[in-house]
Amino acid sequence: MLTIACLSLSGGQGKTTTAVLLAKSLAQKGYTVLAVDADPQSNLSTFLESDVGEEMPTLLEVFKGTVAIADGIYATGIDHLFLIPSDDALDTVQDYLSSSGVGAMLLGKRLEAMKTVFDICLIDSPPQRSQICKSIIGAAHQILIPCEATVKGYGSLVRTLDAIKELTEIGVSQAQLLGVIPFRDRWVGNNQTHESRMCIQEMITEVGKELVFPSIRESERYKQAISQGKTLSALGAPELESPFETLVQHLTAIIEDNHE
Ligand SMILES: Nc1ncnc2c1ncn2[C@@H]1O[C@H](COP(=O)(O)OP(=O)(O)OP(=O)(O)O)[C@@H](O)[C@H]1O
Ligand SMILES: [Mg+2]
Repeated sequence: MLTIACLSLSGGQGKTTTAVLLAKSLAQKGYTVLAVDADPQSNLSTFLESDVGEEMPTLLEVFKGTVAIADGIYATGIDHLFLIPSDDALDTVQDYLSSSGVGAMLLGKRLEAMKTVFDICLIDSPPQRSQICKSIIGAAHQILIPCEATVKGYGSLVRTLDAIKELTEIGVSQAQLLGVIPFRDRWVGNNQTHESRMCIQEMITEVGKELVFPSIRESERYKQAISQGKTLSALGAPELESPFETLVQHLTAIIEDNHE
């Protein structure tokens, strides 16, 4: 199982949008995908429309080990796509993680049990630098950083790279940077706005051209695709699929390499 974290340490950077659309694209391609909602805001759980009752186990119980991980995994109604959901209560795991001493290693340890069951695990993260984020970085093999093509987005990229570096230096993370995905790249007609162009250029300077994926354009279509559970192609905008097609190709190559 290849574990990928969607991580970006500011609000509204496109983490959940990327996680939902990438998880669906991978499942459609035939991969068995485990989506993990590690954000107490639980937007991923809402968008994947898993029918999880209030008393049913979520990521909180999985983290604490009070249920077996398999009991916290639910079908989503989409073939090959499964979910460990969250809710507000997940916030209470922060104290548990900081007092456990091995908090940064815990999510990876829990996911171990699923390593032969799923091809890919995709984790959606909260926006704050928190104990949950540390555990996500600790669990990830690859980290994908969505960030807005704005000054705020560039700041989020720098903060996220810094958090990864901190955990790599102390040996808690072995994660590779899968890449950066510019979010809400604004174009007016055929012209990219000056701010988008400059900010994406800064991202390229920061991580290198080969690690910056095609951008997610500013467009209502992405929101519609998620809220209506449709593909971008079905909404008449197949060209907007490009970032996810590139990501799927890239991940396919990584998975094939791992099998060799
Ligand atoms: N292509 C797009 N263009 C414009 N807005 C978009 C696009 N895709 C998604 N959005 C909207 O941008 C907002 C932020 O996206 P998203 O929720 O994916 O970010 P996030 O990083 O997960 O946020 P949070 O840190 O709060 O979890 C959402 O309201 C979403 O509907
Ligand atoms: Mg989110």
